[in-house]
Amino acid sequence: MRKTLARLAQLALVLLIMYPPWCLAQEPKAIQLSPPQTDGGRPLMKVLKDRASSRNYSPEKLPVQVLSNMLWAAYGMNRQESGGRTAPSASNSQDMEIYVAMADGVFLYDAKANVLKPVVADDIRALTGRQPFVKEAPVNLIYVSDQSKMTRAAPADKDFYAAAHTGFISQNVYLFCASEGLATVVRASFDRPALAKAIGLRPDQKITLVQTVGYPKK
Ligand SMILES: Cc1cc2nc3c(=O)[nH]c(=O)nc-3n(C[C@H](O)[C@H](O)[C@H](O)COP(=O)(O)O)c2cc1C
Repeated sequence: MRKTLARLAQLALVLLIMYPPWCLAQEPKAIQLSPPQTDGGRPLMKVLKDRASSRNYSPEKLPVQVLSNMLWAAYGMNRQESGGRTAPSASNSQDMEIYVAMADGVFLYDAKANVLKPVVADDIRALTGRQPFVKEAPVNLIYVSDQSKMTRAAPADKDFYAAAHTGFISQNVYLFCASEGLATVVRASFDRPALAKAIGLRPDQKITLVQTVGYPKK
C-alpha cells in the first residue's frame, strides 16, 4: 500500500514537472490571414446605394478569407513600396490600430504582415457595447488611435484627427460589407475605460469607435 502511494506521488511529481499548470492555460495563437482578394466586389455606385447600419446578426463566424478581405479594405496596405494604406491619415501618421474581438479572443491587425496578433484570450465581445447583439455577432472591430504615433500633430488636433481617421476606416468597412452582403454598424455606445482596460491599452492609446460585423440574421 505504502509503495503504491509512493509510486503515485512520484508519478504526480513527474506530471507536474512535465506539464506545469501555467503551461495548460490556453495560449492565444496568431492567425495568419490569407492574402486579401483585391480584385472583386460590386460596382461602387451600387454599393453606395446599399450602405446601411444593421443590428440583426447571425452568430455564424466569418471565414478567415472574409476577415482578411475586410481588414484589407478597412486599413490594409495598398502600396507595398511606400507602405500606404487604404485609409488616409494626417501627415501619414498611421496612428490607427484595429483590434478584432471574436469568440476566441482579441487580436491586433498587423497590416504589413497580414496577421492577427493575439492580445487577449478571452471572449470580451459583450464589453464592446451596451446593445444585446454585440455579444452574438462574430466580430467587433475596436478602433484605437495610438497618439504616440502622431508626432507632427499639435496636441489640440489629435482627437480630431483620430475621429477623422476612424471615419475613413469605418466607411471602408461599411462599403466592403455592402458589397459582400454582410451586416455592420459603427458604434459609440460602450464603456470606454472598461474596454481599454480589457485590451490592455496605454493612456495614449485612445478608443474612438467600435464596429460590429457579421452575416445578417435570416
Ligand atoms: C459616431 C457614431 C456613433 C454611433 N453609435 C451607435 C451606437 O452606439 N449604436 C448603434 O446601434 N448605432 C450607432 N451608430 C449608427 C447610427 O445610428 C446610424 O448610422 C444612423 O442611425 C443612420 O443609419 P444608417 O447608417 O443605416 O444610414 C453610430 C453612428 C455614428 C456615426
